Amino acid sequence: MTDRQKADLSRIPRSIWWDIDATNGRPGVFLLDQTRLPLVGDVLCCQKLEGVELAIKTLAVRGAPALGIAAAMAIAVWSENESTATTVDEWLYGVDTQAARISLARPTAVNLAWGAKRLKDYSHDQALKGKSLAELKEDIVSFASQMAVQDEAVNRAIGENGAPLLKKGSRVLTHCNAGSLATAFFGTVGGVIYTAYGQERLSHVWVDETRPLNQGGRLTAWELMVAGVPCTLISDSMAASVMQAGWVDMVLVGADRICANGDVANKIGTLMLAIAAHYYDIPFYVCAPLSTIDASLSEGSQIPIEQRDRRELAGFTATGTILADDETTSRALGMLTLAGPRNIKFAHGHEMSIYRKDEAYAFDAWFMNTPPDVPIYNPAFDVTSASLITGIITEAGVFPASEITKALA
Ligand code: MRU
Repeated sequence: MTDRQKADLSRIPRSIWWDIDATNGRPGVFLLDQTRLPLVGDVLCCQKLEGVELAIKTLAVRGAPALGIAAAMAIAVWSENESTATTVDEWLYGVDTQAARISLARPTAVNLAWGAKRLKDYSHDQALKGKSLAELKEDIVSFASQMAVQDEAVNRAIGENGAPLLKKGSRVLTHCNAGSLATAFFGTVGGVIYTAYGQERLSHVWVDETRPLNQGGRLTAWELMVAGVPCTLISDSMAASVMQAGWVDMVLVGADRICANGDVANKIGTLMLAIAAHYYDIPFYVCAPLSTIDASLSEGSQIPIEQRDRRELAGFTATGTILADDETTSRALGMLTLAGPRNIKFAHGHEMSIYRKDEAYAFDAWFMNTPPDVPIYNPAFDVTSASLITGIITEAGVFPASEITKALA
């Protein structure tokens, strides 16, 4: 490897954290808005559970482990800013209700319900110890924040367990984003990539674009470039041909739910990669924390698969800042946005919203590029059979997919 750049892990982005909003002194769940990355790096502050729920549904926060933390923090933010409970029992009832609500925000990643359940169980355990309402409220905020700290430790362990599987100078292919942005910090696949790169076991990452929402192209490519890990973006349809060319030594993907038999749900397109990797005899590893294992499901056909909006496939979104560098444009934009964001509708259903952002003007747009009303099928995930998976890399070690429940022992 010539001209090997050193990775700068201090620059890897953080997806979610708890903090106090300086504008009103209230606590909130802070999120790096992943719908607008990489060109716009907005930070959202959610001070109500509904805000976190919306962020989950719109994918401002996404990735299975990050969803688990978001669920716990959503309940904590409800407790801090919205609960009117005056007794411990009332508060516990509220925690249970909010946990049930947030668990349903998205169906496939089991970590979402896992995160809500962890916080709910902790609340009940602490209440049984005779804690006061004020103590309980304080405790769950620390517990939710600690979950983010624990997630980073888990990802670092996944990295340590996975890196030795790579021979020196390996070239890896990955799909979607299972990096730092999909977790509290560092990532599952990210954990292996960053650790292996530091050990000179990894030389290059092929990044699948990951249609339709391009989490590979928008998020993984950006994250790796920020960290200084060499990568090349390809369309999903190129993956088999780079394997055929002999340019891929290992495929690493994340997981949204792992069944007792080792079947794995992950971002749509994962199955296609597993089949191609199998054909070309390339090791195919899944990197996931134990919280992604759902031993209550015996096989993959039982996993609920999220169906998403037809607009994700019917067109594409664009977001950015408008360069209003002359007086006339600037004045026109000022007039347009005087009363708040201005939605402009185009023929054929294209849409654009223009809004004022600090001293500049920004836009969010959706452009249709398919025939109007074309029938669309848009599942967000697919299921890869255990038989196509070389192994599952967890914080507890590396397991054959069919023996994944041993990881829970
Ligand atoms: O729809 P998303 O962006 O939440 O889907 C994310 C994935 O499929 C990831 O690969 C998975 O959650 C693993 S994240 C470590």
